[in-house]
Amino acid sequence: MRFDVLTLFPEIFSGYLGQSLLSKAIERGKVDVQLHDLRRWAKGKHQKVDDRPFGGGPGMVLMVEPVVECVEAVQAEPPPGKLILLTPQGRRLDQRVVEELATHERLILLCGRYEGFDQRILDILQPAEISIGDFVLNGGEVAAMTVIDSVVRLIPGFLGDDESSIQDSFSSGNRWLECPQYTRPRVFRDWEVPEVLLSGDHEAIARWRREQSFLRTRERREDLLDDKPEV
Ligand code: ADE
Repeated sequence: MRFDVLTLFPEIFSGYLGQSLLSKAIERGKVDVQLHDLRRWAKGKHQKVDDRPFGGGPGMVLMVEPVVECVEAVQAEPPPGKLILLTPQGRRLDQRVVEELATHERLILLCGRYEGFDQRILDILQPAEISIGDFVLNGGEVAAMTVIDSVVRLIPGFLGDDESSIQDSFSSGNRWLECPQYTRPRVFRDWEVPEVLLSGDHEAIARWRREQSFLRTRERREDLLDDKPEV
């Protein structure tokens, strides 16, 4: 799967893209991430990509010309990609949206900075708009990484064990929160691992996990219990 990220700060991604699972997937050719510096499309001797808003007000607005030209140049390359603009005004990202995004062969992620985008960027390019939550980040870069990070988990073979992403919380296969997990040692400062997990009784373990998952969901996220699976 291919991701193109359009940003004023491509360097932000280098540490993230070098992390283990993702860098291995990139090495194996399962994931391709291309970074595009919006500033390369800046016009004039000042290489401006942002300007003050018409009508006044604080902050700077990303200019229509460099952004539209950069997107069009990236879109000109096949295969056609789904264009996504990261913005707090967008549709809220959740696992259903992630599953939908993972069906695309290519995602083009446009990151904003400053106070936002010139409205004509949206009018001309008609991107899907996505927000990662009801809070305001300094820019779309962290949101773009969030999209990439959640989508790549669903690429067959990415995790090594395809089952693990099917079992992820919030997915179509499992709307409930994860159950508690334990590893060695069996006892730490009098805190013991639940007996059932050491029993070797796989049915009892599965039952316990399901029950813990349900109790945790009821306690913390009751809304998920009425969440009907999609048909
Ligand atoms: N850019 C700034 N805040 C954002 C958010 N919450 N989601 C996506 N992009 C953003």
